[in-house]
Amino acid sequence: SENTFKKIISHAKEYGFVFPSSEIYDGLQAVYDYGQYGVELKNNLKNLWWKSMTQLNDNVVGVDAAIFMNPLTWKASGHVDGFNDPMIDNKDSKKRYRADTLIEDYAAQLAEKGDSEKAAAIVKKMNQLLEANDLKGVYNLIVEEKIKCPLSGTSNWTDVRQFNLMFSTQVGSVAEDSNTIYLRPETAQGIFVNFLNVQKTGRMKIPFGIAQIGKAFRNEIVAKQFIFRMREFEQMEMQFFVRPGEEMKWYEQWKETRLKWHQSIGLPAEKLQFHKHEKLAHYANAAVDIEFAFPFGFKEIEGIHSRTDFDLSNHQELSKKKMQYFDNELNENGKPYGNYVPYVVETSVGADRLFLAVLCHAYTEETVGEGENQKERIYLKLHPALAPVKAAIFPLVRKDGLPEKAQAIFNSLKYDFNIIYEERDAIGKRYTRQDLIGTPFCIAVDYESLENDTVTIRYRDTMTQERVKIADLRSKIENEVSL
Ligand code: GAP
Repeated sequence: SENTFKKIISHAKEYGFVFPSSEIYDGLQAVYDYGQYGVELKNNLKNLWWKSMTQLNDNVVGVDAAIFMNPLTWKASGHVDGFNDPMIDNKDSKKRYRADTLIEDYAAQLAEKGDSEKAAAIVKKMNQLLEANDLKGVYNLIVEEKIKCPLSGTSNWTDVRQFNLMFSTQVGSVAEDSNTIYLRPETAQGIFVNFLNVQKTGRMKIPFGIAQIGKAFRNEIVAKQFIFRMREFEQMEMQFFVRPGEEMKWYEQWKETRLKWHQSIGLPAEKLQFHKHEKLAHYANAAVDIEFAFPFGFKEIEGIHSRTDFDLSNHQELSKKKMQYFDNELNENGKPYGNYVPYVVETSVGADRLFLAVLCHAYTEETVGEGENQKERIYLKLHPALAPVKAAIFPLVRKDGLPEKAQAIFNSLKYDFNIIYEERDAIGKRYTRQDLIGTPFCIAVDYESLENDTVTIRYRDTMTQERVKIADLRSKIENEVSL
């Protein structure tokens, strides 16, 4: 619910996961910073994705392309002409909306009131109008349906205009020399333009993939829902190059592989679903989203797209450079497949959205204890592989050699795991602090530790404790923190 989501947002801020950007100046809309625990969680997600893509697939390699690219790239990709959202302003509230979102929200309200037939008809009509780029028609639909501004309650609308989502800036110091360039709105194009560089230098044979993690920028009209829709965000994309005609097979395969991956990091099957696109992006012949059940409903976290040869062919045309691959394998007629522009199946997941999904799922409130001792407990039920801190080491008290013993354990484990040492406050308080950031194991050093080289491990989810040998700690943690 909305209430839960609010709690998660404040939890993220209060415990060092996500802060509003430049907060001392009241922030910047739809831009966020990751704090000390947030960056660890996000890095863990990125590393796990990278490993599953490149290390576990011997035909997938990585790149790290620049954010700035020759602006012709975005001409060829279709973003200069087609990467638009229909925008409308309300003259009274001076608020800007995406016309399609405005209509969809209105349709959702109709559906809620029981008129789902009309709601569906309106959305269908809107999609047809947008398909035909009939902005006047979209405006008329808003007027005919008497759709009101959510803020002012009036229907005093401007025309609907197309609004390009790319941020632009100038390169070159002198105005006359300067050239408009764009901040990339997707990382994918850095892969397409390097397709032959990688294929040749890596001696890659089709089918093969190129993976990349990096920032992307979009001037979103409606930026809301915390880090779900940001103006600066991070994508983890993989372009898989295949023989023309074989793309649907790979599309189906990557769909399943990616869904399973989300489950492997701890997102439960019942909170994940596919959503097939009816309206396809300008480059795709098939597209599906993997959606996650956020507190505000099922929403996209990853897109899997069959992009045909759209990008490579357009780059070939505009750059006048061949984007072909020579396939010397033999087809069913015993002849080499020969030269062709490969087809592409893409998997594209937002690191920030995935972070949000993981955080929402992990946030747990429960009542523990009985009678007078009953209390509320909050903890992050993160998969140990994702947890920012893997273990915390506590001396029971700050005397009698316990801190020294605990420090020695800390020093012997810190090379292998991100762990922390903490000796301040009562031990109960220390456990609680680790629960709030999702640390799966708390290791306590007590008087018995001095006698027999054992410690207690306290488990985050069950709060149960177990006595283990210090010598076994490494392998015990190791087992739990890998996927
Ligand atoms: N290269 C294909 C592509 O960019 P997309 O569906 O526009 O496809 C892919 O974006 C993923 O990037 C989305 O599923 C989402 O996770 C993430 N994403 C897109 N826009 C975003 C935004 N404004 N803020 C955060 N994440 C975003």
